[in-house]
Amino acid sequence: MNGKIVGAALVSHHPGLMQCEEFRVLQGAGQDSDLIAGYARLRQKIAQAAPDALVIFDSHWFTTGYHLVDGGERYSGTYISDEMPWYLHGVPYDYRGHPGLAGLVETVSRERGGYNRVISHPDLGRQYATINLVKQLRLEHAGLPVVTVSSCQNCDWQHFIRSGEAVGEAIARSGLRVLLLASGALSHKFNAIDWKPNHPRIFHESNVSRPENIASDKGAIDLFRQGRHAQLIERWDAEYRQLPWEAFGAHYLQMVGAMGGRDCTARGEPLSAYENARGTGNIHIWFHTEAQAPGPGPGQAAAAARAAEPASSGQKEPA
Ligand SMILES: [Fe+2]
Repeated sequence: MNGKIVGAALVSHHPGLMQCEEFRVLQGAGQDSDLIAGYARLRQKIAQAAPDALVIFDSHWFTTGYHLVDGGERYSGTYISDEMPWYLHGVPYDYRGHPGLAGLVETVSRERGGYNRVISHPDLGRQYATINLVKQLRLEHAGLPVVTVSSCQNCDWQHFIRSGEAVGEAIARSGLRVLLLASGALSHKFNAIDWKPNHPRIFHESNVSRPENIASDKGAIDLFRQGRHAQLIERWDAEYRQLPWEAFGAHYLQMVGAMGGRDCTARGEPLSAYENARGTGNIHIWFHTEAQAPGPGPGQAAAAARAAEPASSGQKEPA
């Protein structure tokens, strides 16, 4: 016992960030994407948090029927994306897994009648939602183990929260200091192949697919800043599921599930500008988890949430 979540972040992994700097600056009308500088800011946060391991909730690893957890000892190879192999190819990777932590997630899930299972097949391919973060956050150099969790596609938000709760309890039992990364975008509607940019800087937010998606993403970012995850979850089916978020929000919902779900009040600190990528809304946000133990008891967490609520929060917000 005594394991702990020592930090968490929602992180963009969009493939344009893996282009060379010269190309990115050209695409950015003379200035690089702020998500690149944001990776450096996140690296600092990770160094300060000094985790023993990271869990990446991967919004590209789609599974059906189970929330899968990577249980391998080590992952190495050369990554090529089947989505954009003309530029995202030849990426060498060599990082450690953490079979012990992965196994605990399945143990907890089975106790609860849940659907988290370990997979450690050596032929199982990698996804760039994990690989891009391993590279950009230099996790190989730090020697940090990474456990990737899938996005099960026949799930509602409640299933993702329960999957995250199993991860949170496994962390508590592990004795490890673990940092969570929800790898994915907010609104995730692509611009058409023949779309013409609204703004010459491709990363500019006005190039996100629709004004209403920009407004919704910014509303979510405001709620993150205030630590009002209960509000985000309350609005899930009517708003965020409809846009929809990348992987229907599997990355965020599992992360927040591990941090207490509706009881989570971790405040978000943007580590980058909000930017467009092919019409999707992207940002890095750090969540201050210092005061939070994983899997808080409902009474204790609800009391903490009430204490943290602003005075005006008694007003019902539109769903
Ligand atoms: Fe993605």
